[in-house]
Amino acid sequence: MGDNLLRWIRMFCMFCAVSGEGCSLILKPSRVVVGFGEPVSVSCEAARPVRVLGWESAISATHTQEDRSVQWKVDSLIDWIEEPICYGVFFTAPRQCEEKLNLVLYKSPDSVSIRQVNHTGPMVEGKEYQLLCEVQNIAPVQYLTLRWYRGQAEVYNHSFSDLTSSSPVQVSSILVVTPTKAENGAQYRCVAELELGPEGPQPPPTVASEPLNASVYFPPTFLSPEPEVLDYVEGAEITLNCTATGNPTPVYSWQSSHPVQEWMEDDAIVTSSSLLPGTYTCTASNKLEKKSKQFTVQAKTKGV
Ligand SMILES: *[C@@H]1O[C@H](CO)[C@@H](O)[C@H](O)[C@H]1NC(C)=O
Ligand SMILES: *[C@@H]1O[C@H](CO)[C@@H](O)[C@H](O)[C@H]1NC(C)=O
Ligand SMILES: *[C@@H]1O[C@H](CO)[C@@H](O)[C@H](O)[C@H]1NC(C)=O
Ligand SMILES: *[C@@H]1O[C@H](CO)[C@@H](O)[C@H](O)[C@H]1NC(C)=O
Repeated sequence: MGDNLLRWIRMFCMFCAVSGEGCSLILKPSRVVVGFGEPVSVSCEAARPVRVLGWESAISATHTQEDRSVQWKVDSLIDWIEEPICYGVFFTAPRQCEEKLNLVLYKSPDSVSIRQVNHTGPMVEGKEYQLLCEVQNIAPVQYLTLRWYRGQAEVYNHSFSDLTSSSPVQVSSILVVTPTKAENGAQYRCVAELELGPEGPQPPPTVASEPLNASVYFPPTFLSPEPEVLDYVEGAEITLNCTATGNPTPVYSWQSSHPVQEWMEDDAIVTSSSLLPGTYTCTASNKLEKKSKQFTVQAKTKGV
């Protein structure tokens, strides 16, 4: 039987072809997941006597009139619209059968990158920012899950199962963050994962972005902001500890009811045995805010 005659039979009975149960065509395997450029081979078997058995496909079309089995084989699959169909022309009804191969051709992304949207440099505590993850050249996008991590913790995932495209596309995901000071120094990452099902590679192929180091500005914060009262004992050392956390690192200044001595000018901690009774106010400041803390050195009242 020539190819033209074959095509004519197929055309003639296009609408009487059945598939699924009763079709007697078995694809082995019934679902294939192939990486771009990788080889693939699937056999189609007829469960009852068949006149012609073949594969209809833009590449590697083939048929047989002798065997109950025919193989579709490609050494390097690079065709994004390939949907091979196995067909059989039988002696008995149903005379025409076909099975479409469930074929997934996948490609890991060329790149996964992460950046801040409309902003560069450190973020400020309590404000809202957007982080953007961009994925280049991934297929098929409906199997993609983008996972967002802060440190080791997954904070968000974005699935693209509502899209359909067999050829590579570019997609992106936005994470809205309102950083706290605890997130200063945290690393954000975005990981593209192709979950291709049990027939796909295990574990699923993943591509991770470079980490984005979050720098979070926050105002100077004292561990204990309450005023401190210290007892004055002549000749004994007194420590005024004004240490505050903050980003950028706070700078300090002191004011006092006594003339401020040069040696205490910009230190966080003042230790001296020559501090006289009185009040000392320390100011910790960075570009966001100034915060003050008061120390009172009081003379011990005799006999109490
Ligand atoms: C980023 O800024 C541009 C121009 O200022 C604006 O058109 C765009 O909507 C902004 N994008 C986001 C996500 O805020
Ligand atoms: C995505 O995150 C949600 C919680 O936000 C979780 O319940 C779900 O299992 C995650 N999905 C996947 C595919 O990991
Ligand atoms: C991000 O932080 C890590 C470790 O904290 C450091 O090794 C890396 O160089 C930083 N990357 C950038 C771009 O600053
Ligand atoms: C000063 O206070 C900070 C916490 O506010 C503490 O970590 C540090 O050890 C203190 N330093 C001295 C010398 O007491």
